[in-house]
Amino acid sequence: MGIDEFEELKKKISKDKNFSCSQYKDPYLKRRFAIRMRATGTKSYREYMSLLNTDKEEYPILLNVLTVNVTEFFRDAPVFEEVKRVMGAMIKGKQEGKKTFARIWSAGCSNGSEAHTVAILADQILSSHVDDFKVNIYATDIDPDSIKAGREGVYKPDLLKGVNASYMKKYFTEVDGNYQVVEPIRKMITFKRNDLINEQPLRTMDMILCRNVVIYFSRELQEKLFMNFYNALNDGGYFIMGKTETLVGPAKDKFVPINNKERIYQKQAG
Ligand SMILES: C[S@@+](CC[C@H](N)C(=O)[O-])C[C@H]1O[C@@H](n2cnc3c(N)ncnc32)[C@H](O)[C@@H]1O
Repeated sequence: MGIDEFEELKKKISKDKNFSCSQYKDPYLKRRFAIRMRATGTKSYREYMSLLNTDKEEYPILLNVLTVNVTEFFRDAPVFEEVKRVMGAMIKGKQEGKKTFARIWSAGCSNGSEAHTVAILADQILSSHVDDFKVNIYATDIDPDSIKAGREGVYKPDLLKGVNASYMKKYFTEVDGNYQVVEPIRKMITFKRNDLINEQPLRTMDMILCRNVVIYFSRELQEKLFMNFYNALNDGGYFIMGKTETLVGPAKDKFVPINNKERIYQKQAG
């Protein structure tokens, strides 16, 4: 893919949308363009520029993709109340079956705010009444910078608005005006780069959160991805998607809704 076409695409976006691409580094832009080109099946910047001319849905999606890794702790708070509830039930069920661990996947994790939120909730459940049980959280994203940020676990105060005072005190330490998640919580999470479209999904999960990610994908890819998540879950496992996202395709008839409003679904046994 030519450097000229890449420069041309940047200029086109700036001109058409008055959106300055120069605020971003080239490798970041290339990775973001690649996300949309994969999703739309366009094979060159030239082809993608033609698509931008003909498909009026594409520009808003591209601009979203360029401006987001947007995320925050306890994003959509009521979802996490429900997540805590189902996670409690899941851990109880596992313990009754003499299991000693659960596996949770934050797919499209951005800088790890969601994964750390889940880890905090798991710690709340475990430290109040569960002994000898581990919650292992896997957090993946296509963007290496996000993975690096997740591993560091240092966050600006505006990402922490949804964290209550007692959690702030227990789970964060201040570092130069930002806040780092304490080590025991960070250690619950394994961050790993993974492309949800082109790479193998993780397996044998008890809960998968894939929130505010598939909005950027074509319907066909969404359907495929939802089935991948279905297959990646153990029987009884939970799938949680973003509040503005909708379950489509064959997975829609396989998952059982647990809470439609909060977009929580379960894979039944058998
Ligand atoms: C808006 S963030 C969502 C973060 C978090 N799940 C939340 O809801 O707060 C979307 C993330 O999806 C990631 N993403 C986009 N395409 C991806 C792909 N093909 N594979 C893995 N991650 C992807 C982006 O890099 C970005 O970090």
